[in-house]
Formats: sequence, structure tokens, C-alpha cells
Amino acid sequence: MKHLPAKDRYQQIEYNRCGRSGLKLPLISLGLWHNFGSEDDYANARKLALFAFDKGITHFDLANNYGPLPGSAESNFGKILKEDLASYRDELIISSKAGYTMWEGPYGDWGSKKYMVASLDQSLQRLGVEYLDIFYSHRADPETPIEETVDALEYAVRSGKALYVGLSKYDPEQTRLAYEELGRRGIRCLIHQPRYNMIDRGPEGGLFDCLEALEMGAIVFSPLEQGILGGRYLDGIPSKSRATRGHFLTEERALNWQRLSRALNEIAGERGQSLAQMAIAWVLRKRVVTSALIGASSTEQIAQNVAATEKLSFSEQELARIDQIVTELA
Ligand SMILES: NC(=O)c1ccc[n+]([C@@H]2O[C@H](COP(=O)([O-])OP(=O)(O)OC[C@H]3O[C@@H](n4cnc5c(N)ncnc54)[C@H](OP(=O)(O)O)[C@@H]3O)[C@@H](O)[C@H]2O)c1
Repeated sequence: MKHLPAKDRYQQIEYNRCGRSGLKLPLISLGLWHNFGSEDDYANARKLALFAFDKGITHFDLANNYGPLPGSAESNFGKILKEDLASYRDELIISSKAGYTMWEGPYGDWGSKKYMVASLDQSLQRLGVEYLDIFYSHRADPETPIEETVDALEYAVRSGKALYVGLSKYDPEQTRLAYEELGRRGIRCLIHQPRYNMIDRGPEGGLFDCLEALEMGAIVFSPLEQGILGGRYLDGIPSKSRATRGHFLTEERALNWQRLSRALNEIAGERGQSLAQMAIAWVLRKRVVTSALIGASSTEQIAQNVAATEKLSFSEQELARIDQIVTELA
């Protein structure tokens, strides 16, 4: 049956302007890297997407290779769009990316125009939409001239297949080069998608300064360090958690961070938040961060994470204690 979205969805969350642009994104966006593939439960994936939309989460982030199997997260989200959200396309920000291995042969990976354009067309087909809101270069290609990858991004916008373009995992120098090359062609680079959380502070080493200078937005992925900072492994390894299934998070790694997450969990408790909520508030404390890009396996997690936005401020003392714990235990 067709979904009827919650009438009060736009009162559930706030929206941040994405850098110097006209586009606003919800403070929390939902990523479809896990739990939306053909090997996952479609009924649960549908429930997650529709629940998120009911909570005011307008932005859904994909990539060509999300699954498993690669491509299947886009196909499944396309099905949800068609069956439940067809009349809400104008209320949605749908992003996808190309840059990692997608098909065999020399044209199925990295940053050539040949690959990026073919991948974009495939993404549109799987999603069943005429355009993406944001099309990303998923990673900088050390062997393809940046002008060519930018060519592909320019083509995406000029052809109407994408409204905006973004970069993911580019370092500050690569970001500036791509931004300037796009600018020469009259296209503004909207957004950067880096990894950022209490444990992984890479973007503080120059990327955030670069984005602020260029007035680009930042949507930060894995704010919960794939569940470790979600408090998922405080008491061991729950069945069906990502560490039991994933190739990217092992049980060993989840347990290695247990002391750290327990110590951080104490501060979260004193703030009246769960660890997941504090981790989300922590990334959103940075002005340059437009949105925290979470993943979720249940609607309860989404509800809890959206409630994180009710308390975003930190005292200097709390921040110092978090820093100390991470320095000592990470
Ligand atoms: N650009 C890139 O290269 C790149 C790379 C990685 C990710 N991303 C994007 O970022 C998105 C998010 O990444 P991520 O999934 O790693 O994000 P994350 O938010 O750090 O981790 C999500 C996981 O944390 C757990 N979780 C979520 N809310 C929780 C809560 N309230 N309490 C306890 N546990 C909770 C869940 O684990 P369980 O499944 O165990 O329940 C969930 O699957 C991806 O979907 C993708 O769109 C982009």
C-alpha cells in the first residue's frame, strides 16, 4: 500500500544551508551503504526509508556500488521511490557516486569520463529517476587528470542528469583543484563527503579549513564509526550487528574499542544522551558540517539519532574530557 508521509515531518528536524548555496539539508541524512542491498530484508529497508522521511530526513545517500550486490541498494531504493514516494520526488535529495569498482574491464572504476558517465546513466536507471540531486566523484583518481573527472561532473550538470556535484574523500589540495576547475566551467562544487567522528578526526587536519574557505558544505559519513560510537558493542557483540556481518567492521575491531566507548558513554549519560546521540551532536558542533550522514538497521535507531539534535551544544569541559579519552584509549 502506498505510504502516506507524516504531516508533521518538517517539524521533526532542522535543516542547514549547504555552504554558499540555495540547498538545505537535514541535520541528519540517511545513508544506504548497508541494510538496503539484495541480501538484506527489503521490508526492513522500506520501513527504514519511509520512517526516515516521516522524521523529516529528506536526504538519502547512495553510491553505484552499495549493496551487496553492487547496484542493489539503488534498485531497492528505486522500488521504494516508485511504490511509495513517487509523488514526493521534489521533496527528496537523492545522491549517488561513482569512483569504486563497479564492473569488469578498464572502464568500470576510478575517475575517467567514460566510467563516470556510464555509471551515472546506470544509477539513474536503477533508481528510476530522471536526475540525481547530487552526483559525486567517490574518490580522487591519481591516474586520471582532474580536468577529465571534472569533465564528467560538468557533463552531469549540463545534461540535466544531476543538479549539483560533490567530492568524496578528496584531500584539501585535490578539493581545491577540482573546485577551481569546476568554477572555471561555471559550476559550483556544492559539497564534500569525508569520514569524520570522535575517533577519526582526519578532516580537522586541513580539509574543514579548505571547505570553509571555499564556502562548500560538508556531509560527514560514519559519525558513529559504523556502530562503535553508537554504543552497539558496549556489552559484547550483538547478533545481527554490523560486526557480525560486515566486511568493513570486524568483531575484533569492535571489541578493541570497547573501553573507549564505555568511557565516552559515561559522558553521554551525564549529558542525558545515548552514546550515539552524543557522537552525532559532536560532529554537528562544527559550523562547516551541514549534515551527519548516518546508517541504521532499525527505526528505533533513526528515532534516537534524530532526537540527538535536541541537544547539540557541549561545554568546554565535556569536549576536553572527550579529547582526553580518545587520546588515551584510541
Ligand atoms: N563516501 C564514502 O566513501 C562513504 C563511506 C562510508 C559510508 N558512506 C556513507 O555514510 C553512510 C553512513 O555510514 P555508516 O553506516 O558507516 O554510519 P554510522 O552511522 O557510523 O554507522 C551506522 C551503524 O551504526 C549503528 N547505529 C546507528 N544508530 C544507532 C543507535 N542509535 N544506537 C546504536 N547503534 C546505532 C547501526 O549498526 P547495526 O547495523 O549493527 O545496528 C548502523 O548500521 C553510508 O550509508 C554511506 O551513505 C560514504
